[in-house]
Amino acid sequence: MAEATTRVEIDTWPEQRTRGHRIPGSRYTSREFFDQEWDGMWTKVWLLLGRASELPNPGDWQMEPVGREEILMVRQTDGTVKAFYNVCQHRGNPLVDGGKGSVRRFVCKYHSWAFMPNGELNFAPDKEDFPDGNPCGKVRLKELACETFAGFVWVNMDPEPVSLKQYLGPIWHAWSALELDGWRRTMARTAWLPCNWKVVLDNFNESYHVPTVHMAATPDTDRKKIRGHINTYYKETRFDLANEGHNRMVMQGGYGVGSTDKEGNILEPLASQLRAWEIDPARFKGNPEATRSALQEAKRRLGPARGYTHYAKVPDEQLTDAFHYTLFPNFAVSVWSDGFHFLRARPHPDDPEQCLFDNWWYSSPAAIEDGVGHQGGAFLPQSDDEVRMIDYRTESIGPGIEDDVRVFVTQQRGFRSRGFEGVYLSNQEKRIRRYHELIDDYIAGKQPKPKR
Ligand code: FES
Ligand SMILES: [Fe+2]
Repeated sequence: MAEATTRVEIDTWPEQRTRGHRIPGSRYTSREFFDQEWDGMWTKVWLLLGRASELPNPGDWQMEPVGREEILMVRQTDGTVKAFYNVCQHRGNPLVDGGKGSVRRFVCKYHSWAFMPNGELNFAPDKEDFPDGNPCGKVRLKELACETFAGFVWVNMDPEPVSLKQYLGPIWHAWSALELDGWRRTMARTAWLPCNWKVVLDNFNESYHVPTVHMAATPDTDRKKIRGHINTYYKETRFDLANEGHNRMVMQGGYGVGSTDKEGNILEPLASQLRAWEIDPARFKGNPEATRSALQEAKRRLGPARGYTHYAKVPDEQLTDAFHYTLFPNFAVSVWSDGFHFLRARPHPDDPEQCLFDNWWYSSPAAIEDGVGHQGGAFLPQSDDEVRMIDYRTESIGPGIEDDVRVFVTQQRGFRSRGFEGVYLSNQEKRIRRYHELIDDYIAGKQPKPKR
């Protein structure tokens, strides 16, 4: 007997008003604005920086750049992760050159000061020769706030930040239900791109571009005829903005708009997906829309026993649709039932017209075991889990996203033009407006203050 299943309701986010904003091109090119963003925003927000599972043992470290800073994440003997600025407190040499590794102590390559993984200075040559006293046990690496959530390591350069839970608002609850801690990376390509970091985030803050950029459609294309595995039409999409500045867009998927042949037969990959959940595609001949609720029902009924334990805790929509989140300031992620698409942009140390862009995928353990592709289309190789730095000009950053990257590069060129009068946004691009308003709020020292 199948267990009774309970419906979990999708949570509601509060209504938000936007103020209106023309967003001139200079926001993407000006060094002055870039500096204002750094001082007012980047150094005050929680940033997703690494994956806890990549630091399994005490002494394991990973260094990641964010703009002009380099941040070291280090696994401690008590199992927690601490974060430090990658800089020796003797005379400022960086402690590591990048990447990751494992140490007993971090030994500086300039004068051999040695710091323990907890940040304490443990050795300095000629320690009796310091007029201010022996630095050992006294001088420490400069630590910054660090928390772990959803399997990720997050840091904040603000000395007195709100907690990560407060910062994430409604994201915290939704992601906890998905058991994301155990999901593993299955594809990772990273590249420096010649565009401002906001070009990337703006793009992932709207689906208005999808027919044009990804489906070679004309502007007047009937959306219902567009072949895809997801419905990005704004009238059928749910948009939400959180008080904390993050946002969510829920696009129906799972039935693949128009994914039937002329006779009405369900096409791949939907047909295989249905069979995998014991549904005969023939039952839905000429009626592809109905597969969505059938899949939801089957997944809820059969999923938990097959190892998809998170299914019991999420709303029906999460079983078939794409929950696309943008976490302020620089992380966009499409969360499907069994995989999430990780899209992040970090600023360059000093050039507003470059950013470091990650296009990664993660999958749930059950999906990896079953060898099923990510819902939403592309089946990506599951062995390519190490981050591969690519040159976007000669290699693909990944299916689908390579189309976005082409536009990132050209749009940045357009933003340099004195002839560009500032954006003219549709309502479905409201999340872009709100995002820019929030950057301005941070710069003005008026960031949202979540309740402590
Ligand atoms: S700068 Fe690091 S030991 Fe001197
Ligand atoms: Fe896109």
